[in-house]
Amino acid sequence: MQENFEFCSVDSVYLAQKYSTPLYVMSQDIIEEKIDYIKVNFLDKYPRTYAYYASKAFLTKAMAKIIKKSEMGIDVVSYGELYTALDAGINPDKIMFHGNNKSKDELEFALERGIGRIVVDGISELKLLIELAGERFTAKILLRISPNVEAHTHKYISTGQLDSKFGLSFASKDLDEAIELAIKSEHIDFKGFHFHVGSQLFDNEAHVESTKKAMELIKEIKDKYDYEIEDLNVGGGFGVRYTAEDEPMPLEYFTDAIMEEVIALIDKYEIIRPNIFIEPGRYIVAEAGITLYTVGSVKNIESVRKYICIDGGMADNPRPALYQAKYSACIANKMYDEDTELVTVAGKCCESGDILIWDINLPKVERGDILAVMGTGAYNYSMSSNYNKLAKPAVVMIHDKEDRLIVQRESYEDLLKNDLG
Ligand SMILES: Cc1ncc(COP(=O)(O)O)c(C=O)c1O
Repeated sequence: MQENFEFCSVDSVYLAQKYSTPLYVMSQDIIEEKIDYIKVNFLDKYPRTYAYYASKAFLTKAMAKIIKKSEMGIDVVSYGELYTALDAGINPDKIMFHGNNKSKDELEFALERGIGRIVVDGISELKLLIELAGERFTAKILLRISPNVEAHTHKYISTGQLDSKFGLSFASKDLDEAIELAIKSEHIDFKGFHFHVGSQLFDNEAHVESTKKAMELIKEIKDKYDYEIEDLNVGGGFGVRYTAEDEPMPLEYFTDAIMEEVIALIDKYEIIRPNIFIEPGRYIVAEAGITLYTVGSVKNIESVRKYICIDGGMADNPRPALYQAKYSACIANKMYDEDTELVTVAGKCCESGDILIWDINLPKVERGDILAVMGTGAYNYSMSSNYNKLAKPAVVMIHDKEDRLIVQRESYEDLLKNDLG
């Protein structure tokens, strides 16, 4: 019997030995299954619907190439993400450029490369974009609105409330001004609206509520300016399972409810149905990734807590320290041993808050064991840092039971390569 934990039919202990730890392991098979699910249950179900992968969740050239091969477009939020997507050969027309504070350089680059949609986040950005577009370019834009709805999630990943740094507040003077300016500016092709209400959502209320508000706005614009809005982007945020406590809903629970609302309202308002875009990030990659660590120190404080310390932590996964994200894990080399102790998984960074998992039941843990943390495919690699001068881990992609190194482990020379002394 296979005794080690297998990820997509590959022995995780073998991977840890081959590539060393900490190690991010991603599954192309799972990523492609998710993309396929979106296609069957959303894109093929409704005409004129589009899915853009929110690349902030996990972006490497290999990942961008998977997206390129699919029907999906890609959402980027910085020069770096844009550069990576273009370098992987993604058609500029299939790129959506977000960000609450895009620089002049970023906007100029986007204009020059003919990026498909620039999602304008505020009135000052719109004015800057108009100036930069000048006579040379016509920028296809969406205006990001903050629809003033509360999403049921951690406040650090809630984005659509009134007091938000993202977007133009619903029913604000800035929004009215931006709409008028976008309609009247010759070198702006005003396509429509975008909202993203938050992340890791298990109910569809915020999406549905925001859709209603956006549709109402589309009707008001038709009445006031006789202008037809073509696009509505309803963002991402579809929740996934990190631990047994999570009960994520299938994608269509969100998309069907959104489409139902859109279809009902176009009849009521007598407007043309906009193209509908979604932007899932976490949904596509979270469950497609695990991280492997080696256990080092084991420290027992009697009647208080037992810490097992691993060779990574908040530098490769800041989410628990940032917003109390929860993860599940197993001891990969003791897959079939009984759970006998309650332990806390501590990272190796010099912060008391660097705890990856508080209170998890595991088999007896010893130095040298391999800990596999599940569901680390989203916002781990992409949020990693060099805190404490830790080198960033390698990334391995599994496809059809074969492993392939897609990002090399950083070397200590890499850590100093920009340091001029
Ligand atoms: C504008 C926008 N779209 C999409 C996403 C993706 O969210 P998720 O990964 O939860 O699907 C985000 C996440 O921050 C976002 O800010």
